[in-house]
Amino acid sequence: MCGIVGIIGNDNAGYKVLQGLKDLEYRGYDSAGIATIHNDRLGVKKSVGKISVMEDGFLKKPLEGRIGIGHTRWATHGVPSISNAHPHLDCSGRIAVVHNGIIENFVSIQKLLIKEGHKFVSESDTEVLAHLIEKFYKGNIERAVKEALMLVKGTYAIAVICAQEPGKLIIARHQSPLVMGVVKKGSYIIASDITPISKLTKRVIYLSDNEMAVLSMKDYHIVKISDLSRNLVKNIERIDWELGDSEKGKYKHFMLKEINEQPDIVKNIIFSHVIKKKGMIKFGGLESTWRTDNKKEQGKTGMDYLLNVSRIIILGCGTSWHSGLIGEYIIENLVGLPVEVEYASEARYRNLCINKNDMVLAISQSGETADTLMAIKEAKKKGAVTFGLVNVVGSSIAREVSGGIYLHAGPEIGVASTKAFTGQTIILALMAVLLGRHKGKISLERGKKIIKSLEKVPVQMKNIIDNDNSIKLLAKRLAKYNNFLYLGRAYNFPVALEGALKLKEISYIHSEGYPAAEMKHGPIALIDKNMPVVVIATDTEDEIYEKIISNIREIKSRRGIVIAVASEGNRKIRNIVDETIYIPRTDDFLVPILSVIPLQLLAYHIAVKKGCSVDKPRNLAKSVTVE
Ligand code: AGP
Repeated sequence: MCGIVGIIGNDNAGYKVLQGLKDLEYRGYDSAGIATIHNDRLGVKKSVGKISVMEDGFLKKPLEGRIGIGHTRWATHGVPSISNAHPHLDCSGRIAVVHNGIIENFVSIQKLLIKEGHKFVSESDTEVLAHLIEKFYKGNIERAVKEALMLVKGTYAIAVICAQEPGKLIIARHQSPLVMGVVKKGSYIIASDITPISKLTKRVIYLSDNEMAVLSMKDYHIVKISDLSRNLVKNIERIDWELGDSEKGKYKHFMLKEINEQPDIVKNIIFSHVIKKKGMIKFGGLESTWRTDNKKEQGKTGMDYLLNVSRIIILGCGTSWHSGLIGEYIIENLVGLPVEVEYASEARYRNLCINKNDMVLAISQSGETADTLMAIKEAKKKGAVTFGLVNVVGSSIAREVSGGIYLHAGPEIGVASTKAFTGQTIILALMAVLLGRHKGKISLERGKKIIKSLEKVPVQMKNIIDNDNSIKLLAKRLAKYNNFLYLGRAYNFPVALEGALKLKEISYIHSEGYPAAEMKHGPIALIDKNMPVVVIATDTEDEIYEKIISNIREIKSRRGIVIAVASEGNRKIRNIVDETIYIPRTDDFLVPILSVIPLQLLAYHIAVKKGCSVDKPRNLAKSVTVE
């Protein structure tokens, strides 16, 4: 969950590294550091706290040079401190390393190096890399890095520079993300993801596990870490993000910008995949042949797999697990196909039973979540066909699965996921319609009606967002409370979980999501006049709605405060709750796309009211690339 940046062949390397770290700050922000080489000497600056602290120091006394590396940290080993901040140096102060990942055997390596006289100055696992490279350095930095990495166990994305070879930047990766941008011949940028790269170039090369790149001010070559003699041929791919996608623009926070982007993103997803006349859905990603090691399956497309699937196992974490739960409800209801949703972190350590014709679907905005990536690898070992629903193009999960669908939602910078959630949910809904139509569960007529409902959703989303002021006022009244419950039923149960997660992760208020019916089995004991309960009570099948109303009455009889998310036109509910937020009516299975928005805005405004760091909440990072 750290971010690394490296630049070579740029007159302002140190400053460009600093700008790159600002773009990666959402990956971790408790300390930072930059190193450059100028006149064959290594210059290093480090800071504790957000990148703005580093920027102040850097602008006062910039680091010069045409090559530099930098790091923004989310502490895994050792407290946030100058000594634990990267870059880490060897004893001679001529080799600098930045690292994202965990060196699992660093203690044993450290003991060995201390015995050989190396002096350690930090608690960081990364420092062993600097000293190990020094141990093997005999005038060729890539060879020394190779020898060092052959001894290392764990995960890493590293960048290394050496004052004796100032024209070389070495990068290598194993189970931690690392992308290389080709600015021009002899000028390159590397980073943990494409956000900083997209500002200098759209041309990128995605390194795979166990690969190393040697970048010089003339050219570059890529090799397997284990074999430096054979150059690998890697495609230069193109980033589809526009400049400005990763800027806040007129918004105070990235989270607010990304909430506001949702209607357009959902509209693009819907309109690029519906075939109105046929009441049908089409995904390009499913029409292409999928990767497989199984000779008998060569040439099969995503559709070939999907139309023969007997069960879908959805893997994800956090918000992506919530959208998976909604997908489960939708696919089971519209298609009658069994779906199982698992926390990726649990699935990988359970003996997940994967049968023939099962498909494992990984949902991940970043495409770098370590738990999800490792769970997918485990599923592949068991012979599963793996499917990715990912936002970041070329990310590790996107390249690990057999095939998949990209969200194309643009960079999601705010740590609290919003547009990725609605993007994931709408794609799962479209997939269900596609399957339902192909399997004859949804008629042509019904397919056309569903598409009509789908086409209204983006405007309905925008209407909710445009009426944000009432939610902002409500947030001001609710910000003083210390505990919240979120309740929902059926499609809105996962939305209750998502609403609670939004509130807790950006406002630090304790909040829990529950199936509304489950309240009677424990949580009702918590209800009193100090407990706001957000109930998603949209009109749905009468039976469910009536049960939700009973739940609300049970809360009110215990003096709980009820905030209802209700369907437009339902005036009665206002007589039994304290506050009502109305959302437009739509098909039941599309309600989550709308009912989540007031909860995103409520969490946002409460966090702002409390003066919290909305885009970079404490202890969190955008991409959890450690287990
Ligand atoms: C959601 O707001 C959180 N930031 C977090 O739960 C996130 O959804 C989770 O870490 C999964 O991330 P991914 O979608 O990038 O895999």
